[in-house]
Amino acid sequence: MSKQTILVTGGAGYIGSHACVELLQAGFKVVIVDNFSNSKVESLVRVEKITGQTPTLYQADIRDKQALSDIFAQESIHAVIHFAGLKAVGESRQQPFNYYHNNVYGTLVLLEVMNEANVKRLIFSSSATVYSESTCNQYAEDFPLGAINPYGRSKEMIEHILRDISKADTVNKSVSPWKIVLLRYFNPIGAHESGMIGEDPNGIPNNLLPYVSQVAIGKLEQLSVWGNDYPTIDGTGVRDYIHVVDLVKGHIKAISALENQQFAAGNCKAYNLGTGTGYSVLEIINTFEKVTGRPVNYKIAPRRAGDLAECFANPALALAELDWSAEKNLDDMLIDAWRWQTNNPQGYQ
Ligand code: NAD
Ligand code: WQD
Repeated sequence: MSKQTILVTGGAGYIGSHACVELLQAGFKVVIVDNFSNSKVESLVRVEKITGQTPTLYQADIRDKQALSDIFAQESIHAVIHFAGLKAVGESRQQPFNYYHNNVYGTLVLLEVMNEANVKRLIFSSSATVYSESTCNQYAEDFPLGAINPYGRSKEMIEHILRDISKADTVNKSVSPWKIVLLRYFNPIGAHESGMIGEDPNGIPNNLLPYVSQVAIGKLEQLSVWGNDYPTIDGTGVRDYIHVVDLVKGHIKAISALENQQFAAGNCKAYNLGTGTGYSVLEIINTFEKVTGRPVNYKIAPRRAGDLAECFANPALALAELDWSAEKNLDDMLIDAWRWQTNNPQGYQ
């Protein structure tokens, strides 16, 4: 049997590059489209070194309809995993147009081309950030949505668009209906265990883990812990950190699930990808120091605007319907993040 081809948008990025490794190792043919706005081609050189296989690369913007149509004409695509997008919350407040144009309009162009090519299997990178603030800290998929920044709203809008187009197909009993999985990621961290691919943020990192690693290696002087007066175990923010390799394995399970009964007549379903366990910022720092033997210089600073006290997944639905659950623990995540950082102190440069 010939290999199924998966089109991976944003395949050179942090999560996308890890997905390419797992897809190639699982026996898929991988075709990547990336404009390298937030990644480097070196990540794909490393994917090749890890797997001994060469993914097909198209350097293009997903908003370029002609370029996308050409790719669909050239390749026999079974399904699309759609990672491409901008993802920095703070930047999205300063450049909302860019975020809606890149994320929402880019997805519309992709959907149009997929529809024309009659490729209607899609796995979409959504985020826990689509949930509205709630008094309950453990989010299940049926919780109300209500993102609070342009980045989150772009993800929420895309979710609505995907649900609507899939519903229309189901109502109209389309011969080949859309089959769509929305994966809501909690906080992906860590790196491939080879230490060859990992997260390579531009400039000063926004997210906790790259910041902690860069303080530990001496690139940054001190971590600010944003608030220690939250109603949590030690006053610092609690999040559901998930190993990036566990996360991308969820995508491979989702590709298989598209063939299950629940998607037979077309469907669009959301699944949380998280461990179900939350850790505080201080727990992260302490565990990082324990597993790496490196001190992390930090100070307590005021709360960061827009932060929640506590947020973690109820991952039961992904286990029941995708047969997926996270396998790696916090030590694994931090050891792998540190291996990547020490092997690549300047990232991919
Ligand atoms: P990333 O920035 O490392 O990867 C995104 C990739 O998409 C990059 O390689 C970038 O060059 C590419 N890209 C962006 N816009 C493009 C366009 N218009 N055309 C073609 N390529 C384009 O980000 P990531 O952390 O790997 O995240 C992947 C996806 O997962 C994103 O959609 C993000 O919103 C989502 N997500 C990420 C997190 C997280 O914490 N990393 C959490 C939840 C959801
Ligand atoms: C984690 C915890 C901070 C940095 C963000 C996006 C979300 C998703 C993942 C894409 C919080 C604390 C952080 C620092 C700190 N991305 N912290 N000092 O905010 O949970 O989620 O990334 O979809 O949309 O909002 O992740 O890593 O920024 O913060 O104390 O320098 O670490 O306050 O409690 P967050 P994060």
